[in-house]
Amino acid sequence: MRATPIERVLLTEEQIRLRVRDLAAQISADYGDRDLLLVTVLKGGLYFLADLSRSLTIPAAIDFMAITSYRGGQGRSGAVRLIKDLDEDLTGRHVLLVEDIIDTGLTMSYLMRTLRARDPADLAICTLLDKTARRIVDDLPIRYRGFEAPDAFLVGYGLDFREQYRNFPYIGILQPELIATPVQG
Ligand code: IMP
Ligand code: MG
Repeated sequence: MRATPIERVLLTEEQIRLRVRDLAAQISADYGDRDLLLVTVLKGGLYFLADLSRSLTIPAAIDFMAITSYRGGQGRSGAVRLIKDLDEDLTGRHVLLVEDIIDTGLTMSYLMRTLRARDPADLAICTLLDKTARRIVDDLPIRYRGFEAPDAFLVGYGLDFREQYRNFPYIGILQPELIATPVQG
């Protein structure tokens, strides 16, 4: 039998469901009849976007982008490259960037700069998890935040460790020993 990669469950499926429902209610009330476009970053934001958008009581369009970030060892350089762009035109639209987790904030900072240049009427962030303690960028317009996250490596509900465990329905803290293991292959 396979050993569990999870040290402990941080957020159960039920806790996530209830919080996503609250966020969706708030977003529905705030945006009303505006032309709302939900944008997410593949692949991590996929589950959150799917659940959040289904809980809205207002119509919304969805779109996806994909990026790669370069990491040096444990840290990140903050260099981000777009590998799949949006299909939608953002001009004059109310864009909500839906993210799984914000850590240093460098990825979001890059995305905000890129999307702001396309003249949306409004551009804000909705993140499920926020590792506030690790933030090095401090001007992010986070309008909606699901949960404050501890400084630990989390997996599940879209979050991966080396492309594994995204499909777990809950969010767990990864066994710290796993992070130290060398990449196979
Ligand atoms: P940032 O640029 O440092 O804010 O990093 C944001 C990205 O790092 C997220 O979109 C995730 O892809 C990834 N990330 C940050 N923390 C975690 C974690 O605890 N588990 C899995 N991925 C994470
Ligand atoms: Mg991500």
